[in-house]
Amino acid sequence: MIIAIDGTSASGKTTLARRLAARLGYLYFDTGVMYRALTLAALRQGLSMSDEAALASLAAGITIDVTSPTASDGRPCTVLLNGEDVTWTIRSPEVDDSVSQASIYAGVRSALTLQQRRIGLRGRVVMVGRDIGTVVLPEAELKIFMTASLEERARRRLAELTLLGENVGLAEVERSLAERDRLDSQRTVAPLRAAPDAVVIDTSHLSAEPVLDLALDLVAKRERAAPAQNARDAAGRGERGGVEERE
Ligand code: DC
Repeated sequence: MIIAIDGTSASGKTTLARRLAARLGYLYFDTGVMYRALTLAALRQGLSMSDEAALASLAAGITIDVTSPTASDGRPCTVLLNGEDVTWTIRSPEVDDSVSQASIYAGVRSALTLQQRRIGLRGRVVMVGRDIGTVVLPEAELKIFMTASLEERARRRLAELTLLGENVGLAEVERSLAERDRLDSQRTVAPLRAAPDAVVIDTSHLSAEPVLDLALDLVAKRERAAPAQNARDAAGRGERGGVEERE
């Protein structure tokens, strides 16, 4: 099964995806790290985030590897940029503030999407991002779209940044998240939006545990539905999605 998890920044995608992948024995793949690694490379080269041609050529020329964790420091995976471990550097506020802008360009997205799709099509994967269910892997059997209020997401992101030793305030984090929401959802190419057949989960008032239970329940339902779905596909008929839970 391919599981696609999309949603706004700090809505709980990573937490759910990591736990889900661990429970199912699937690969956890966070596509955001690729856009972050590209942004870090661009910042280091002093590129302007509005220089589409330079960013696209950088995306085509750099090597981003995502491997299983190579250190026991809480990292969900190790991210290598041209061989250098940038797992934590890509989480800095500087990268936060530029990554959505660098991600709006078609040339950047096509280079990274291609790699993501290749990995996803192997199956047994929980892939996280903004456009996984809509563009990268529209054939995913389970699509989850996560949201939460801006206030709650800012609170969570602030806690993460504080752990990283960053000294930022709540208002600043809220501003940065709101701007990323705007850029991610208003871009022309692969904007952030729920696929029509996605299950939407609002995590504003939910802790990680019930969200995981909900997702495991959805996986079980999809597994039970798979034989019937295969028969329908074979008969050449598609299935339309339903309500929030859409079935
Ligand atoms: O999930 P994240 O906060 O690490 O993602 C960082 C940025 O990367 C996000 O603001 C937009 C971009 N992104 C994207 O455009 N498409 C994806 N599939 C994943 C991330």
